[in-house]
Amino acid sequence: MARLSELSRSIEGKVALITGAASGMGRATARLFSDEGAHVIVTDLTADGVDAVVQEITAAGNSAQGWTLDVTDGERAAQVIEEAVAAFGGLDMVVNNAGMAISGPIDDPDFEDNWATTVDILLTAHTRIIRAALPHLRQSDCPRIVNIASTEGWGATKFNSPYVAAKHGVIGLTKGLAVDLGREGITVNCICPGPIVTGLTEAIPEEQRTIYAKRRTALGRYGIPEEVAHGTLNFCLPASQFMTGAILPVDGGLLIKNA
Ligand code: NAI
Repeated sequence: MARLSELSRSIEGKVALITGAASGMGRATARLFSDEGAHVIVTDLTADGVDAVVQEITAAGNSAQGWTLDVTDGERAAQVIEEAVAAFGGLDMVVNNAGMAISGPIDDPDFEDNWATTVDILLTAHTRIIRAALPHLRQSDCPRIVNIASTEGWGATKFNSPYVAAKHGVIGLTKGLAVDLGREGITVNCICPGPIVTGLTEAIPEEQRTIYAKRRTALGRYGIPEEVAHGTLNFCLPASQFMTGAILPVDGGLLIKNA
């Protein structure tokens, strides 16, 4: 059938790097991007975690290769990106997703360590990955960066200040780089997931999750990782070329619900 629109909604053949892709939203994003025909660079801390996701993707007949990558290790990030580019012939998209959470009050004896670890993994790491990827993104005809922040990048949950500060920082980084890289056609956008059932939240008892979600979200439930992955995919489409510096909540309406 003839199409009346001009811009493509296909990422087929594009190469996408995803950090923290062994679990939760990273894994869902890797699976979705592979379903859409992208070559997926699956990275995470452990070989077992990475291999399991690569196995799922290749067993489905889709394309992926895995690398262990601790996002706090800038040298390793550069090495992984060079190897992946050699394997797939380029790099088009980076999804900065890897994350963890440590909570505690400001007078916690471990606060300074928690702060340093949290900011390093959730915020500084994004800059490492982007710096290593940039020369390759500059060669792409569809260069996309998506940073995963959180609704904690807008507001704050009690005793979570390092995480809240880092996620606010991810939003700031997104805006800053969107301005810096815009003239090169590289888009930089940010997703703010609300409560999603993943490795980060699975320890919360289901009853508690249900009470929280009914009270705080418009949709009255937790989200699933794939719902966030579709938001990320939208930012990565060739058709999304005029969308940059955008901060998209995928939160079941948490941010807009007053009561
Ligand atoms: P998850 O625990 O299921 O997945 C996070 C992945 O990141 C894990 O596979 C973990 O091994 C990896 N990771 C942790 N530290 C790493 C490091 N130093 N280097 C490389 N990989 C590392 O959790 P989830 O929820 O899928 O988290 C993904 C992102 O979503 C995180 O940035 C998180 O802060 C964010 N987020 C999660 C929400 C939720 O409700 N689950 C809500 C808002 C944001």
